[in-house]
Amino acid sequence: MRVIRSLVRMQKLAAAFKREKKRIVLVPTMGALHEGHLALVRRARKLGDIVVVSIFVNPSQFAVGEDLERYPRNPATDKRLLKREGVDILFTPEADAIYPDDFDTYVVPGEIATRLEGAFRPTHFRGVATVVLKLFNLVQPDIAIFGCKDLQQTVVIRRMVADLNLPIRIVEIPTTRDRDGLALSSRNSYLSKQGRKRARAIPAALLAAQEKIASGERSATKIRSLIKRRLLGVVAEVDYVSVAERHTLTELKEISGEVAISLACRIDGVRLIDNIILKVN
Ligand code: PAF
Repeated sequence: MRVIRSLVRMQKLAAAFKREKKRIVLVPTMGALHEGHLALVRRARKLGDIVVVSIFVNPSQFAVGEDLERYPRNPATDKRLLKREGVDILFTPEADAIYPDDFDTYVVPGEIATRLEGAFRPTHFRGVATVVLKLFNLVQPDIAIFGCKDLQQTVVIRRMVADLNLPIRIVEIPTTRDRDGLALSSRNSYLSKQGRKRARAIPAALLAAQEKIASGERSATKIRSLIKRRLLGVVAEVDYVSVAERHTLTELKEISGEVAISLACRIDGVRLIDNIILKVN
């Protein structure tokens, strides 16, 4: 596995792979890798000739007061894990190379980025879209792989790819969960032991919603209320519960078709997000 820090070097390598007609697959990450990331890497290995994993804790997607400084960083472990998965290139650029002092151009996603996560983190998706487009330009992937855990992020990125005519296929991988159902996330490491136990309420609430829909409930309002009720008293604060069309994340009145049920809440001051995707007749 080659470890590349230089942007120019990455671009030159990508150009060489293109000349050789190799299919490049990119897995963008912020490191602190867990099984969820490795599931993306394994899919990348199946889909491409050259697998590039980027690790870059992107400052522009964190607002002032968020967890940029304390975001977990485990470079040695990450490197070992990626090597074991047969990754070809680990791309780890420096922040001042990605954002030099005179950096002044951002990708600003539209309406989709103002709802759900965007309502609570107004500049988050601007940071995500900007860095992802820069990574696409640097790595020149044919395919890029993202996890459904950050479902709105995948919707924003798909929109950007379509709107800006980027010749890149976006592949989404289902969320990897711990044994008790909690979605794997680098931020789970912030939870106390007690908080980690209370976090089980999140997948449990989503499962309760899924079961209610399976037994015939079609009112989105009732499902949102059910989830909130299940979370109240267990988590400190519920930022939102959404029952929406899966591809646009437009809120539904009646549940049918491809549906995403998403939520964000806080436990121990740690903000966690999760979702499930259902096909409902
Ligand atoms: O999902 C993430 O880890 C990040 O948002 C991403 C896509 C790597 C951009 O920084």
